[in-house]
Amino acid sequence: MTATEGQLAHRQLVEYLAESGALSAEWRPVFEAVPRAEFIPETVWVESDRGALLPLRRAEDPRRWLELAYADDAVITQVDDGQPAAEGTGRRISSSASMPTVVAQMLAHCAAQPGQRVLEIGTGTGYNAALLAQRLGAGNVVTIEIDPELAQTARHALKTAGYDAVTVVTGDGAQGYPPAAPFDEVLSTAAVQQVPYDWVEQTRPGGLVLTPWGTDYYNGGLLALSVTEEHTAVGTIIDKASFMTLRQQRFTEPRLTLTAEDDAHAVCSFTDIHPAEIANGYIAFDACIALAIRVPQCAMSYAPPELDADGEGILWLVDARSGSWARLHHHPDRDGPYHVLQSGSRNLWDEVHSSYHWWLDAGRPTADRWRFTITPEGQHIQLLDSVRHPVSFTELR
Ligand SMILES: C[S@@+](CC[C@H](N)C(=O)[O-])C[C@H]1O[C@@H](n2cnc3c(N)ncnc32)[C@H](O)[C@@H]1O
Repeated sequence: MTATEGQLAHRQLVEYLAESGALSAEWRPVFEAVPRAEFIPETVWVESDRGALLPLRRAEDPRRWLELAYADDAVITQVDDGQPAAEGTGRRISSSASMPTVVAQMLAHCAAQPGQRVLEIGTGTGYNAALLAQRLGAGNVVTIEIDPELAQTARHALKTAGYDAVTVVTGDGAQGYPPAAPFDEVLSTAAVQQVPYDWVEQTRPGGLVLTPWGTDYYNGGLLALSVTEEHTAVGTIIDKASFMTLRQQRFTEPRLTLTAEDDAHAVCSFTDIHPAEIANGYIAFDACIALAIRVPQCAMSYAPPELDADGEGILWLVDARSGSWARLHHHPDRDGPYHVLQSGSRNLWDEVHSSYHWWLDAGRPTADRWRFTITPEGQHIQLLDSVRHPVSFTELR
């Protein structure tokens, strides 16, 4: 691998992002100035066919490493909070350099202008902080990372790349960083289920809190909140954005070990709802956001038929706390009705089914019709103009 190969790969990635429309004209020179590879650690992790996470060392496979550094994909940079469960194999992704398209799309919504001050939550590799530094001025960027090793590696990479004036804090980003507040913007690169009020408190009135948002059911909205003179924040979901969560707000994993006997005792029914209508965030984003808001503590996962060895699509709904579950099967060659099984103290399928019908009856409200309000008391979500279908949710901290 030569420097020229790296430069070429960097140019190709920027070109690709610009052509796809993800990269705006004002951010293009910024992406051109910051080579992503300079922030990718020597060891990254790749997913094997069997779903295990395996290390890939630059020294052992420099070509593959470079491909990953400039692919339009997330690069896994840490597993299991830095302590892989088994020797050399990871189970859960705990840090990554986010997918460049997602980084560019999120930065396009960043309202901060050169000279304004931003607090980034989730330093990770430091790449996004470097992009912010290149545009706003390095001294205007504070970034906070909970993992001391990641923070130290990012500090070093930022320094090497010439952005040593960026302040890299090791700490819990959910609490913001009061010593450097107020900020013009708080931009989180880790998703939340509940927006921490500290972010609102540390943003000047008129400033913005920009964060990926999701729940156990669906993680994939980008929330933009304006901070008011009264120090509350109000806003809506303005785009798609799927990020890992803050450590203390992790989603419940939809894992249950079931036996044939569990299936035999489950309640069986049929539905005409195709799982993609309620589970595929690309084609059913608005429905997924509504279900994420309306069906609490319900982890959803959907494997379409092309990913299944038997060619069958399977939707899972799981509430691991109560042990309740539901499963829907469908075959690509057969139209509905589809077979549903559900079991436990919660009838998860019934909950999803009725919330989906509520959403259809309400006129399929789009994701940007949900208003989020963040106050010291907590997060309040309300459907705008919902005279016919009044609905609102308050989650207190
Ligand atoms: C998707 S990665 C961020 C990517 C990063 N901005 C980059 O450019 O590489 C999310 C990061 O958030 C960090 N994180 C999780 N919980 C956190 C918390 N409470 N405070 C600060 N950082 C946190 C994770 O350790 C992880 O590094």
